[in-house]
Amino acid sequence: MKAIILKKAGGVEELSVEEIEKPIPSAKAVLIKTASVGINPIEIKTRKGNRFTEKLLADKPSILGWDLCGTVVEKGKEVKDFSLNDNVFGMINFPDFGKTYAEYVVAKPEDLVKLPQNLNKNEAGGIPLAALTAYQALKYEGKLTEKSRVLIHAAGGGVGHFGVQFAKHFGAEVIATASAEKSEFLKSLGVDKHVDYKKTNFEEEVANVDVVFDLIGGDYIDRSLKTLKKGGIIICIPTATNDGVEEKAAAKGCKGVAFKVKPTKKDLEEISILLKSEKVKPHISERYDFSEIKKAHQSIEKGNTKGKIVITF
Ligand SMILES: NC(=O)c1ccc[n+]([C@@H]2O[C@H](COP(=O)([O-])OP(=O)(O)OC[C@H]3O[C@@H](n4cnc5c(N)ncnc54)[C@H](OP(=O)(O)O)[C@@H]3O)[C@@H](O)[C@H]2O)c1
Repeated sequence: MKAIILKKAGGVEELSVEEIEKPIPSAKAVLIKTASVGINPIEIKTRKGNRFTEKLLADKPSILGWDLCGTVVEKGKEVKDFSLNDNVFGMINFPDFGKTYAEYVVAKPEDLVKLPQNLNKNEAGGIPLAALTAYQALKYEGKLTEKSRVLIHAAGGGVGHFGVQFAKHFGAEVIATASAEKSEFLKSLGVDKHVDYKKTNFEEEVANVDVVFDLIGGDYIDRSLKTLKKGGIIICIPTATNDGVEEKAAAKGCKGVAFKVKPTKKDLEEISILLKSEKVKPHISERYDFSEIKKAHQSIEKGNTKGKIVITF
């Protein structure tokens, strides 16, 4: 099978398409023929070198990727939940390695949910990691209701565009930061107020929010705390830039959470119901063939992704 191998930490030139052995599923796992895979910033960071890189390079074949949508083509003897030819999607083997940048992927049934029929399998690989992050953060930490006012940073990107839609589904008022070029997109997602962070300091335009969903971190933590009500919560997502969020928030009489997505099947099933009813829709702005992986990585690295970028096999 074809797989995208990470040769060593570095630039996109370290990603190469190679022919390797197809993996064999255990009695408790399935083999998926990949249709699409979402590209996430964590894979860019791992390619360049972060806390995952050394471990991945030691774990041959060194293949990036956690998101997956595809078709079950083999199943272990003990697998009851899925049949051959089922289309499925999921976040695979997180936070260990999912190795989904490959033509065939082994996955545990606990990581998979059947793909709703209205979704395109060549795009749905872009959903699981970003949607699970937004759903879990806003449902369990943000506890959004129709009384909540939420500020979502980076609302036009992968996690953000799902976050806006989940927040609207929970009935919240949504204020969103993004560049001017995403204004129409945010409106189409249901955002109540868009702040162009390049033109204005958002903390001068936004006040009295109950929840901040922060996908940027760093000085956005301090600046966002100025917009929070006393007793409010800031949920900060990027692990590399969310240091100190708990203490900083506590000093202002608020709660701070450094959040990490969890591989919870029940949450993906709930997301799947929202996708099926089209209350939530994935926006896939760019689709690349797997042989164009370098272009896909370069595109997300620019830092202005709209919705999600996927590769297809
Ligand atoms: N801890 C976890 O479990 C977890 C899970 C998922 C993601 N993450 C992290 O969360 C972050 C976001 O992920 P993602 O997948 O949504 O990224 P993404 O798809 O690359 O989107 C990033 C978005 O940020 C916007 N942006 C850039 N600078 C901004 C600024 N200063 N203010 C507001 N918006 C800005 C960009 O567009 P415009 O500039 O055009 O608006 C773009 O839409 C990444 O760091 C990722 O690694 C962590």
